[in-house]
Amino acid sequence: MVCGIIGITTEEGFTQEPLGKLIKDALKRLEYRGYDSVGLAVITEEGLLKIRKSKGMIDAVSQRLGFDSISGFNGIGHTRWATHGKPSDENAHPHTDCLGRVAVVHNGIIENYKKLKEFLIGEGHRFASDTDTEVIPHLVESFKKRGLSTYEAFKKTIELLEGAYALAMIDLEDPGKIFFAKKMSPLIIGLGNKGNFVASDVVAFLNHTRRVIVLVDGEAGYITPREVVVERMVREGGSVRWLPVDVERRVRVVEWSPEMALKEGYDFFMLKEIHEQPYALASTLSAANESVSDVARVLAKSERVLLLGAGTSYHATLITALLFRKYANLWAEALISSESRWWLNALSQGDVVIGVSQSGETIDTLRGIREAKERGALTIAVTNVVESAIAREADMAIYIRAGPEIGVAATKTFTSQVALLSYLAIKTGELRSVLKPSVAANIYNALRETPEIVARTLKESERLASLLADKMSFKNNAYYLGRGLGLPVAMEGALKMKEIAYVHAEAYPAGESKHGPIALVEEGFPVVFVILSKEEEELIKSNIEEMKARGAYAILVSPNNAEEALSLADFSFVMPALHEVASATSYVVPLQLLAYYTAVKKGLDPDKPRNLAKTVTVF
Ligand code: F6R
Repeated sequence: MVCGIIGITTEEGFTQEPLGKLIKDALKRLEYRGYDSVGLAVITEEGLLKIRKSKGMIDAVSQRLGFDSISGFNGIGHTRWATHGKPSDENAHPHTDCLGRVAVVHNGIIENYKKLKEFLIGEGHRFASDTDTEVIPHLVESFKKRGLSTYEAFKKTIELLEGAYALAMIDLEDPGKIFFAKKMSPLIIGLGNKGNFVASDVVAFLNHTRRVIVLVDGEAGYITPREVVVERMVREGGSVRWLPVDVERRVRVVEWSPEMALKEGYDFFMLKEIHEQPYALASTLSAANESVSDVARVLAKSERVLLLGAGTSYHATLITALLFRKYANLWAEALISSESRWWLNALSQGDVVIGVSQSGETIDTLRGIREAKERGALTIAVTNVVESAIAREADMAIYIRAGPEIGVAATKTFTSQVALLSYLAIKTGELRSVLKPSVAANIYNALRETPEIVARTLKESERLASLLADKMSFKNNAYYLGRGLGLPVAMEGALKMKEIAYVHAEAYPAGESKHGPIALVEEGFPVVFVILSKEEEELIKSNIEEMKARGAYAILVSPNNAEEALSLADFSFVMPALHEVASATSYVVPLQLLAYYTAVKKGLDPDKPRNLAKTVTVF
């Protein structure tokens, strides 16, 4: 997800085409990942390092900068999806050292880049961009100056990096190699004839070779046209060791069609994106402290917050409003953005309006932000797309880092929104002295565990969700019930079920269900209960009993310590017991899977639900 990387190292006779064109063609195949800038670096036969990069789309940039006519034997290319630093020519990759000899492309986030950058500036390095990536070539340069070979300098650099990365690097002084490293971002080696590849995705080089080695976290090394060297970094106490890895045995032949390759082997983008949630959460949370700090300072001094969103983003605002009220003693209200005009007259200077939108383009949310601004409120955008309309128009913007979402149903952007906004609410509570720093720290830690929890949940609930989907695919109706923070999670589960599996799924506060909705319940009527914490168990237990007494088929998403509630369930997704803020972020995952498998069992295409568009730009 996010940025696309390609590296191609060749020897005489690889192809007749200039390397710049081959890199451009590979970047075109990575276009689906979403990007705002593009660039390449090529080492030529004359011993030059040619770098061409710009903000813009591949075809236009390539034509303007003449990618197709750049020849050489070793090169790297990149499509950038802005995270640190706005989309611009300077921030486009590759990035180089001061001497313009080392060029690097990167996907991911270097969390400790500020510290590294300060150190490098102290050493006299000059930086040409706002990116976190640029510290890498300068670090390599710095180690080389101390007498290390390029490869040794590269490994020393990797040892210093914290965060997520897939990297490819070339160096004019060791011109036949492409150096690479991987942690938490995908990177795959392709084994060709008279040339080898490294890329974010096999689709980039499938037209040249189907023989691949999938790298795993902690591996780094280099390729030449004939050789693949991989080592694994092992940290022991304070020291680091590099152990050789035998990759011969890991060579696989990919059978995917180009269409399947785009989906990285998953049947649908939605399933791929559901599985990308651990990465999306990890990248969002790794940058959270820094991204929310300015906005949290503003919120700490404010008295009222209005949160606007549509669909799934609205559900994220509901969770956030509850958290602001409970953990920051801050009056906060969530509003469906298309309804916001009924509130705007009551806004005054000093109010804060937060527009939450994964695309950053939803017209209702954009209009709400515009109108709030006109009334003197301070406006803040929370989105997945840098420089999107809402981000541009709001006074301040903070970003989730989920990578482009292609499936129409929002999945990874929802969990990332909830994680980032939860972080913001807790930070605000800390700054308002409502939460002691130690209490806040516990919640941050619980949030930081969610990537791991979601990864485990995906493993444990996929088969269960598919099993339950056999039953759901024959149902026309379902209720989704929850209390407190569990209610928006239930609402999100119901929305997924409605929009992709066309099952009429209604969400209610569990306590409200007996005031009307229960009239519909009869034998076999599915009712999903979302319980986020042991504390809620006592209250929701009676709701489960009421429903079961009318014949309901009770499905639970519940922590493992809610034993009594679980004993009443006909079907359950048993989740680890977490702090409620972490459960609100992660417990939706089984419900996403349930909706997905129900759609698939009904023969529907979950990526393209009828009547829906990914971005809604009409009122
Ligand atoms: C549901 C879904 C939609 C969007 C809504 C808002 O799966 O995708 O309900 O959540 O259209 O979109 P954004 O977040 O782009 O403003």
